[in-house]
Amino acid sequence: MFNQKVAWITGASSGIGEALAVALARQGARLVLSARREDELQRVALATGLPAEAVLVLPLDVTDADDLAEKVQTVLARFGRIDYVFQNAGITQRSLVQNTDPSVYQRLMAVNFFGPVALTQAILPHMLAQKSGHFVVTSSVAGKIGVKQRSGYCASKHALHGFFDALRAEVANSGLRVTMVCPGYIRTPISSSALSASGEVYGKSDKAQEQGMPADECARRILKAVASGREEVYIGGVETWGIYLKRFFPAVLSRMLRNRAVEQ
Ligand SMILES: NC(=O)c1ccc[n+]([C@@H]2O[C@H](COP(=O)([O-])OP(=O)(O)OC[C@H]3O[C@@H](n4cnc5c(N)ncnc54)[C@H](OP(=O)(O)O)[C@@H]3O)[C@@H](O)[C@H]2O)c1
Repeated sequence: MFNQKVAWITGASSGIGEALAVALARQGARLVLSARREDELQRVALATGLPAEAVLVLPLDVTDADDLAEKVQTVLARFGRIDYVFQNAGITQRSLVQNTDPSVYQRLMAVNFFGPVALTQAILPHMLAQKSGHFVVTSSVAGKIGVKQRSGYCASKHALHGFFDALRAEVANSGLRVTMVCPGYIRTPISSSALSASGEVYGKSDKAQEQGMPADECARRILKAVASGREEVYIGGVETWGIYLKRFFPAVLSRMLRNRAVEQ
């Protein structure tokens, strides 16, 4: 499925993106690894075990929309095509609405929503010309339900569903695919880089996160869903049931979410 395919991963320097890089390399893909920290991307490139000609380390900030068109050209100059884009870069939040500085909402939307939108628009003409391509977007269970202290994060992930569901409908007849991935708790450092109410880094890891599914298991399930052409997939433990509760028993879920303790 992925053998010799070109897969571009954002957020490849850590967590789920790193695990995707290793898993895709095992299946013979050629990789483009993107995030802001070049040294971490180089470490991940080594960990994939791929020969230098099969991996391109391409540091970028997804909020720098002006830079993305040039990055697409860099990838095309190197590999000549782009088959999969794993839009996985993201940051989260730990703050109540009443305390949150508006800049925190701007930042969450910039990284988690406008970043993927800009990258999609930069890549889309190429995929349409190629008549193939697959966008794999890391949303969250929080992209389906609203959770305390994550108002901006939930909003940014909900927004992804609206945008990419619309895109899927627009490009399906052109041979392009979209898979939305909704992980629950996955064991990664994401909560330590979460934004606090003031926009400072939260700097703590959450218990639920620490006890979550290992990132390599999450990556394995993502690739399975992509390979089988799934439009949307939920990955994690019991927390993913919240999506079904919302759909079939919304009042029950609402009560559960209301009664959840605020994290200190
Ligand atoms: N872990 C979970 O429980 C969980 C659950 C649901 C959804 N998710 C989603 O999964 C995705 C990956 O998160 P993770 O858990 O693997 O966390 P992580 O280990 O903190 O990884 C986040 C990645 O995003 C990159 N990133 C952050 N801001 C960026 C920017 N402005 N430009 C480019 N890259 C940026 C980071 O790299 P640099 O710092 O080097 O830029 C890092 O590689 C996120 O979209 C997250 O919302 C995670």
